[in-house]
Amino acid sequence: MPIPTQSWRGDATGHLDLLDQTLLPTETRVLELTTVEGVWEAIKALRVRGAPAIGVAAAYGVVIGCQTERGGSAERFRARLSEVLDYLATSRPTAVNLFWALDRLRAMANGLQDLAPTALHDRLLEEARAIESEDRAMCAAMAEHGAPLLAGCEGVLTHCNTGALATAGDGTALAVIFAAAKANPLLKVYADETRPLLQGARLTMWELLQRGVDATLICDSMAAWVMKERRVQAVIVGADRIAANGDAANKIGTYGLSVLCKAHSIPFYVAAPSSTFDLTLADGEQIPIEQRRSEEITQGFGKQTAPDNCPVYNPAFDVAPATNITALITERGVIQPVNEASIRRALG
Ligand code: MRU
Repeated sequence: MPIPTQSWRGDATGHLDLLDQTLLPTETRVLELTTVEGVWEAIKALRVRGAPAIGVAAAYGVVIGCQTERGGSAERFRARLSEVLDYLATSRPTAVNLFWALDRLRAMANGLQDLAPTALHDRLLEEARAIESEDRAMCAAMAEHGAPLLAGCEGVLTHCNTGALATAGDGTALAVIFAAAKANPLLKVYADETRPLLQGARLTMWELLQRGVDATLICDSMAAWVMKERRVQAVIVGADRIAANGDAANKIGTYGLSVLCKAHSIPFYVAAPSSTFDLTLADGEQIPIEQRRSEEITQGFGKQTAPDNCPVYNPAFDVAPATNITALITERGVIQPVNEASIRRALG
């Protein structure tokens, strides 16, 4: 059964049904989003998360945000569109798919200056739908290109959630794992729980078990030992933003995994669609890293686990250097070695 992460309902005057991922795995509640503020909040609060899924939600958020001016003048519609695009861009800073989707809608609207508001609004919905369906196709292509890299593995380790919940299709890294597990049902998958918000425990394990994959949950701090014990022969993760030189930002803990892979001579793969590459940034130093609330660490899921007023540092992402990445898996194929020249050659 495909997981209904998000679905647009109706025409351009419709709404977005969105699965509230903060409640998983114990509750599956679908939110009916009818305001752009609701979409912004859903992205900010990680009700929808994962780089490609954020881009899709934001695109539909633009359609919702422009509904109030659908019947208005061209001038007011375009002013509203600009306001909505700028507003959604403030929801989360790291995943470039958000800005990629918003820029795509902005560029499309700029190229259609003669269109009346209703027609332009309809075109915005068409483009949002295209962003969603293209992402689905990119997931399938990544799975196809990436699965052979895991062919000889008995075990593979992954971090965070990069599956159907994080994309419009089967996922990025997790789609590769699904395809590899289909080819080799004996493949064992180790999922980091992914502190502090437990995307690995709550979401990745949920997806893997639903698909009947042989999956085992570990604490993040166990990854080194799992490698030392030779339980895994590869690590594969997704990305939120990849710079021109191949440095890849992903969920906090990814940098550490890349270092551990080097230390244990294990390949470290990053799977991401072309919409996750930011070729305007020379390297990972310039990738903005989201800082999140201290309560995510001190009161995770409602229970206080640190003293009152405990100082906290809570970066949501880190950057794995290109030199630690064995290969990038994209919808256009596998990029190896990971450097600016090979990335530009593959992505054009
Ligand atoms: O904070 P999140 O849950 O949005 O972080 C998600 C990740 O880090 C994923 O690994 C990344 O977006 C790749 S998803 C296909």
